[in-house]
Amino acid sequence: MDVHFPTSSILSIVLQALLLSSSYGSLEPYDLLYNNAVDAFYRSDYKDVVRYMEGALSSYAEVRQTKVRCRLRCQDQHPFDSVSMDLQFFDVVLRRSNCQNECIEEKVGTQSMHKVSEDVNQDFQRRIPYNYLQLAYQKLKQLDKAAAAAHTYFQANPEHVEMDQNLEQYKALEGSDQDHFVDREARPHQRSFSAGVKLYDSADYKGAIALFEEALQEYYRADVECRALCQGPQRFEEQDHVLYHYSLYELVSDHFTQALHCEHECVRDLSTRPGRLSPMENYLPLHYDYLQFAYFQMNMVEEAMECAKSYLLFHEGEEFMTENLEYYREAVGHDVKPREVRPWLHPKWHPIPYIVLNALPSSSVLVCVFVCVCTVGGPLVYDSVQLVQNSKALNGTQRVLLDDVISVDECAELTNLAHTVTMAGDGYRGKMSPHTPNERFEGATVLKTLQYGYEGRVPLRSARLFYDASERARRIIESYFLLNSTLHFSYTHLVCRTAITGQQDHRNDLSHPIHADNCLLDPEANECWKEPPAYTYRDYSALLYLNGDFEGGEFIFTEMDAKTVTAQVKPKCGRMVGFSSGGENPHGVRAVTRGQRCAVALWFTLDPLFRELERLQADEVMQALDNQSSQSQWDTSLNINPKDEL
Ligand SMILES: *[C@@H]1O[C@H](CO)[C@@H](O)[C@H](O)[C@H]1NC(C)=O
Ligand SMILES: *[C@@H]1O[C@H](CO)[C@@H](O)[C@H](O)[C@H]1NC(C)=O
Ligand SMILES: *[C@@H]1O[C@H](CO)[C@@H](O)[C@H](O)[C@H]1NC(C)=O
Repeated sequence: MDVHFPTSSILSIVLQALLLSSSYGSLEPYDLLYNNAVDAFYRSDYKDVVRYMEGALSSYAEVRQTKVRCRLRCQDQHPFDSVSMDLQFFDVVLRRSNCQNECIEEKVGTQSMHKVSEDVNQDFQRRIPYNYLQLAYQKLKQLDKAAAAAHTYFQANPEHVEMDQNLEQYKALEGSDQDHFVDREARPHQRSFSAGVKLYDSADYKGAIALFEEALQEYYRADVECRALCQGPQRFEEQDHVLYHYSLYELVSDHFTQALHCEHECVRDLSTRPGRLSPMENYLPLHYDYLQFAYFQMNMVEEAMECAKSYLLFHEGEEFMTENLEYYREAVGHDVKPREVRPWLHPKWHPIPYIVLNALPSSSVLVCVFVCVCTVGGPLVYDSVQLVQNSKALNGTQRVLLDDVISVDECAELTNLAHTVTMAGDGYRGKMSPHTPNERFEGATVLKTLQYGYEGRVPLRSARLFYDASERARRIIESYFLLNSTLHFSYTHLVCRTAITGQQDHRNDLSHPIHADNCLLDPEANECWKEPPAYTYRDYSALLYLNGDFEGGEFIFTEMDAKTVTAQVKPKCGRMVGFSSGGENPHGVRAVTRGQRCAVALWFTLDPLFRELERLQADEVMQALDNQSSQSQWDTSLNINPKDEL
């Protein structure tokens, strides 16, 4: 570990040690080799590109493997287990650190030689070297190797059109063999898992079991390696080393906080596919889910039960799995233990020493992930509001259906507002829907409506009602889903969809296609990628309906396949459907085949950084309006400058 002692004497000892150990030196650093390869590429010396780039890749792998091996070995030789006093603890820390340094330097040379810039590391993570390699191999007419490099690169850069075309060309070549298209950087646990899912889907349960079991073993091995890599020096973000004058205890605990954070990230890293930003959801538990069913199919009920129990360690009380478990228990006639599954129970992972935990600064936040399985909702805030269906009745999680959120009069007023706003706006009469050519679409935001209200283009009273109704919706969602921090507006939109007459026969499109609100739905992979251009910061969504006198237009929830409808809601005045915005709640709107359907669509975020600027401006307008009674010239003082707001 990398403890910075304030005294210069220790520093000089360290420096001497570094100088002495430089005599070991053996492995060429990969950033140097990488640079040489890139230079060679611009000289069009492709033999050298291959020589240096392959060298860089193996040096990169070697450094990583050496660090893992040395850290695990030294951790075993110098455990924290029996440490009870501070001095013993520091003794172990120093011995362990010394052991690691010696071990690593013996294999690859001085560690400072292998310090590599973040840019180069990122290039390696993005598999850029394989892009150079495939071009070089292509020039050298070694097409099998070019194909492998292209395939490896493309796995992590699926949006790279050119590489896609190259791959097609390689595949079309005579004598091209499927075996050439290997992923040279494939992560064993993900490879086995994907292969397992394929067999499972084709009902080859025996084969699937073997692969999932292998995937689990590989997963835990990768987990141990990833955690071992966290033991090195940590970067102290946001803190300037030069100005960092805390006591030794604070330093040590800061270090361990960083290391813990890094280990926590391992869970994410292991379940993230190459080139993706977001992890596959529920990745590790899914292994046990697939396994329990596969074992059951193979009539190995005891194993199935063991896996069901293991799954429940991650999702305690999960309904379907609990039912399965009951069934297995009856079939087997006795209980079995779950497997030892959680990485933090793994014998190789030593917990943070007690004294360090004690010394943790109170400001340090340890990040924990937990899945909220809220079955009981919180209060609905307003007396009139009725709970119609909870998550369970809506066949999903984090969903709610409420009635009487606003009154019949309020529905009528807001519907009128929707028309007048769109009429007021530059003769804009409702454009074609962005989602279907068979409907018109019109909408307005709170701020625009308030501005029109102020200018007298729409009734001010109605504009205020829009503002107030959206606030009511926000409070209800915040309270019902038991959110422990403020829910902020992310976007609010009053929107009407109108069927275009004469275009409604045999419609089979949707008014709004199936999507999730904060991630990119990928029905093929059965995943929802929480990455741009999705609005990843949106946490909850709600739709407040203003009317029901139209045909079609049902709101639907589906499975992640974007096809299987799990619940359907018929809009009506005052009805509101609320749900969490993630991949657990894909949804859409059936075609509106006759009449007009109006609703207030609301998206919320828990992250104040992403709250809607317009809303803050609207708050200001409202405040100014409230002041208007006492003072009529507020318009000059109403300086809406977005820059002031954040
Ligand atoms: C909010 O806190 C309550 C009580 O501590 C807890 O039951 C609930 O799960 C929390 N909600 C969320 C979303 O974390
Ligand atoms: C939930 O699923 C059941 C069974 O498939 C179905 O009868 C019910 O209508 C669904 N709930 C909703 C709100 O659609
Ligand atoms: C409205 O009045 C309050 C109190 O008099 C004042 O603090 C606030 O700045 C005023 N807001 C605007 C936008 O004029």
